[in-house]
Amino acid sequence: MSNQSEKIKFYSGEDIPLELHKVRVVQKLHLVPIERRLEALNEGGYNTFRLSTNDVFLDMLTDSGTNAMSDKQLGAMMIADDAYAGSQSFVRFQKAVEDVLGKKYLLPAHQGRAAENIISNAYIRKGSIVPMNYHFTTTMAHITQYGGGIEELLYDEAYVINSKHPFKGNMNIEKLENCIQRHGAKNIPYIRMEASTNLIGGQPFSIQNLRDVRAIADKYKIRLVLDASLLGENAWLVKQREDEFKNSSMGEIIQAMTGLADLVYFSARKLSSSRGGGICTNDHEIYKELEPLIPLFEGFLTYGGMSVREIEAIAVGLYETLDESMICQSPQYIEYLVNALDAKGIPVVTPAGVLGCHVNVMEICKHIPQTQYPAGAFAAAFYLISGVRGMERGSVSNQRDEYGNETYADMELLRLAIPRRVFTLSQIKYVEDRLTWLYENRELIGGLRFTYEPPVLRFFMGGLEPISDWPQKLIAKFKEDFGDSL
Ligand code: F0G
Repeated sequence: MSNQSEKIKFYSGEDIPLELHKVRVVQKLHLVPIERRLEALNEGGYNTFRLSTNDVFLDMLTDSGTNAMSDKQLGAMMIADDAYAGSQSFVRFQKAVEDVLGKKYLLPAHQGRAAENIISNAYIRKGSIVPMNYHFTTTMAHITQYGGGIEELLYDEAYVINSKHPFKGNMNIEKLENCIQRHGAKNIPYIRMEASTNLIGGQPFSIQNLRDVRAIADKYKIRLVLDASLLGENAWLVKQREDEFKNSSMGEIIQAMTGLADLVYFSARKLSSSRGGGICTNDHEIYKELEPLIPLFEGFLTYGGMSVREIEAIAVGLYETLDESMICQSPQYIEYLVNALDAKGIPVVTPAGVLGCHVNVMEICKHIPQTQYPAGAFAAAFYLISGVRGMERGSVSNQRDEYGNETYADMELLRLAIPRRVFTLSQIKYVEDRLTWLYENRELIGGLRFTYEPPVLRFFMGGLEPISDWPQKLIAKFKEDFGDSL
């Protein structure tokens, strides 16, 4: 497998991320007129999750299940072994998990949150507390559904949006120990570390930090669970930023991380550019505790709710995670966009992380109070003026507390996901261009209010509306500046 990670220098001196792949299958896109985009927003409750892809130009909602698959993955899907039980596709999946993640027991689950459901069902009881570097939406929803709670234990630096700290996803070791002493180890079924901490802007943790967490876990005899959904990129950033590992291979770095965890789970929709998920461990006791839950919630133990074709794609995708020329593509594009915006003074999360470019809406839309969901409004406004669909990662994505009160998010972000090997550089430049325009016209953007608020994970299907005629004002200015350009 190639190991080309070196940046290729341009004679011009320009810093351009050069693609080390070619595009062989393409999908036509449509950029519908701004009037249609306004209708689409009204139909979709100003919630980008509810847009139809017919109305979306660049889909930057997520990298989940949208990373480009390789020719080898697609080829492998053709030789899958259809069987309810004992499928050879599962044997290949197991082998890939053992080779890449270094874990011999594998339980299949149909995606990351299904793994979270299994783990929560097995270990969370009323009053349980799970310390973590930071929550992910589905993780927290599952833990609270089973009566547990979470504590987020990042260092203060993680909340500094414009920072140079290489590892904002690190867990605060002092706070961790304090949390264990306060709640008592018996109430803490596991400590959870999330690779490339999603909701704070795709920020990695260092292996040294994971070692320190492991030492505390050992001291208090608590399990350590690793959410490995974004493990590949975390490993790549360790190689770039943690001196000790600058000459290590991706495989060595990945296993240094997984080797410190008792239990590893992942969304294959991210980790291996496919669909599906899994839970793996070397601890036979843990395996036996979780095993009965798979046929109950997911499916038989050799498919776990997934198609065997997807299982084949996961197996190949896991090996491809070791290829630096593949894994570096998304973070390098993100870095390109983040640096371009940062250079223009447009507030973004720095240093550039993984998954996407995260725009700091709290700073851009200071005139919109959090009660009016600034990140949601900005996401809708950006779609309106560009056809680009991002995702709100702010207070709309937060859940209410147990008394039904709003809990405002620490950060109000628009996430523009850059899935692996999907977009071209001119498309990224278009995003930069339209974001710059919106930033200059930010005062025109107004707030939103809920018209429909689901009780669980409200951001998926919730409906909102603008609290004034700000979308019309934005369109008028757009027409003034762009004429009849789409
Ligand atoms: N853990 C992390 C860190 C995630 O980012 C995700 C999903 C999950 C667990 C759940 O996995 O979607 O396969 O059920 N993140 C997606 C996103 C949804 O858009 O960031 P899943």
